[in-house]
Amino acid sequence: MTMSTSTPQDSPQTAHASHNIDTLQKRGKTFPPPPEFAANAIADAGLYEKARADRLGFWAEQAREILDWQKPFESVLDWSNPPFARWFADGELNVAYNCLDRHVLAGNGDRVAIHWEGEPGDSRTFTYAELTEKVKRAANVLEGLGIGAGDRVAIYLPMIPEAVISMLAVARIGAVHSVVFGGFSAESLRTRIDDAEAKLVITADGGWRKGKVFPLKPTVDTALGGEPSSVEHVLVVRRGENEIEWTDERDVWWHDAMDGADEEHEARGFEAEQPLYILYTSGTTGKPKGILHTSGGYLTQVAFTHRTVFDLHPETDVYWCTADVGWVTGHSYVVYGPLANGATQVMYEGTPDTPHPGRWWEIIQKYGVTIFYAAPTAIRSFMKLGREIPDAFDLSSLRVLGSVGEPINPEAWNWYRNVIGGGRTPIVDTWWQTETGAMMISPLPGVTATKPGSAQVPLPGISVDVRDDDGNPVPFGGGGLLVVTEPWPSMLRGIWGDPDRFVETYWEKFANVPGGPLYFAGDGARRDEDGDIWLLGRVDDVMNVSGHRLSTAEIESSLVSHPFVAEAAVVGASDETTGQAVVAFVILRADQAEAVSAEDASAILRHHVGQQIGAIARPRTIFVVTELPKTRSGKIMRRLLRDVAEGREIGDTTTLADTQVMQIISERLAQK
Ligand code: WT7
Repeated sequence: MTMSTSTPQDSPQTAHASHNIDTLQKRGKTFPPPPEFAANAIADAGLYEKARADRLGFWAEQAREILDWQKPFESVLDWSNPPFARWFADGELNVAYNCLDRHVLAGNGDRVAIHWEGEPGDSRTFTYAELTEKVKRAANVLEGLGIGAGDRVAIYLPMIPEAVISMLAVARIGAVHSVVFGGFSAESLRTRIDDAEAKLVITADGGWRKGKVFPLKPTVDTALGGEPSSVEHVLVVRRGENEIEWTDERDVWWHDAMDGADEEHEARGFEAEQPLYILYTSGTTGKPKGILHTSGGYLTQVAFTHRTVFDLHPETDVYWCTADVGWVTGHSYVVYGPLANGATQVMYEGTPDTPHPGRWWEIIQKYGVTIFYAAPTAIRSFMKLGREIPDAFDLSSLRVLGSVGEPINPEAWNWYRNVIGGGRTPIVDTWWQTETGAMMISPLPGVTATKPGSAQVPLPGISVDVRDDDGNPVPFGGGGLLVVTEPWPSMLRGIWGDPDRFVETYWEKFANVPGGPLYFAGDGARRDEDGDIWLLGRVDDVMNVSGHRLSTAEIESSLVSHPFVAEAAVVGASDETTGQAVVAFVILRADQAEAVSAEDASAILRHHVGQQIGAIARPRTIFVVTELPKTRSGKIMRRLLRDVAEGREIGDTTTLADTQVMQIISERLAQK
């Protein structure tokens, strides 16, 4: 199933992955690896065999070959207390040393680590030697501020080099970072600071986005105002030059502290299971989950996958992942994977369309990017703008293209390959999650014959399956739920402070099934006749908007916290560009329903959600309604609301408590 050699045919593709599986299968449309590519590829088919023959031996070999250990491990996997895994537990390493010092010591100090491009057009370049020096200084700064191993540090920064430097400095001293995406609100930031009990916040005055400076420090001030918090200091990078307020005994300028810091810092070894970071992600309840990752297993899998899936040749490649470090993709494939592998990468501060819609392609041309990793939502928005924009730039340096965050429909896949990749480049559609830490399902370039729209096969050393609701394996050609059947090195080690929720969310559904306990990913999936896997989206109340995860419950509770709102229901409706879009149905309080128009109410509520959670959570559409469809047990039937939001005929309403309600809602909306 991984190495079929059918010939590519350039027949036109239709719109949506889930609708076209059968047609595609019948055509057998795949793109075998170009022979020149295969001849120099990092990966070979033997990896699968090796891993299949001895999975733990395979991972132990990767961990030993890819990383430098200060104390070698003997124990590979401790799974004596599932689902709590320990990988390489008796070994010791320093994550930052593995990402920095060792490359310098190996004679690669002059290699560029980061070509950074600011949105207004300024740029900075850091070699491995320079980045190592910065991180050593920053580690001394953190220690000077009283941060030690195990302490939590919140990072709320734009996409500037200091974000990478901060993360690595935290890692270097065995502390734990919790990066909060710069688009999140003061309230979201505070919730995360409180949950992690962070002692320090690293932020900037502001950052550049869409041609303007957006303030960050003022948001931190708001977040820390009010109730006392665990935060002792705020370290502030100067970037936006915007005016900010200053709290003398708490706030410290980054540049002052860095200038005064010693440039020597010893990287001591920590246990492989030393916590590395917490990253909050949306779940099915209103409260975000603090996903916990540790050191040795995580670094092994992110480095291994970064090297093999992108076919990284660190001496010659220029790699660019467009993700923000506020998301897991930025953690694993901007910071830890590429730097552990000694890669040269591009990092960009701003949005793809500033100051012109060809900005990304201009950057690829400027730096000669060879490996490019982006989300389908971006590809689809460029598709809409037309190929003239990318065609105006020289993209001939590209040789591997990656996709992540949501299913990529075959039409976008083909456009990506033909227009951006000049019809030459393998596309790697990589399925993974914040929880998995690293890629899990993806073709290997040079090995796999790629298939538009399918993430295809688990990576070597990874075991996944598609099961029905009772945990029985689904035959080829059938659909079900995606599970991971064996522990993997970069798996989450838990939810910060909530072991019960960890067990319930991921391990309870398939606890007592053949081969269990199995990890339940929350995604629907289908296997085609070749055994290739097609991801079909979330099966829970989690939405995927532009490759970002949002919880329906979190947005609903934000809506009902507004005095206008009596009740709210949120659904993810399919959207041509963003994959899904947030659509809300609200019932106004009786006293408000008269006083405010539906238009005003929805504008006010959109703003409110933006303030409370962050701009990404703002509903695209808010429908003001008088009833919500509920089952007799009182559960809101989101399926029906999704039908309405997507303009479909309303499905089966027989289990509704009040069968009239949907008719009323859809008639009302049709009248608009
Ligand atoms: C969810 C995880 C992986 C980093 C970015 C998102 C969806 C992710 C794919 C893909 C189909 C995908 C899944 C998954 N997803 N990659 N290649 N094909 N779906 O991380 O925020 O933790 O979201 O994103 O639904 O469960 P995340």
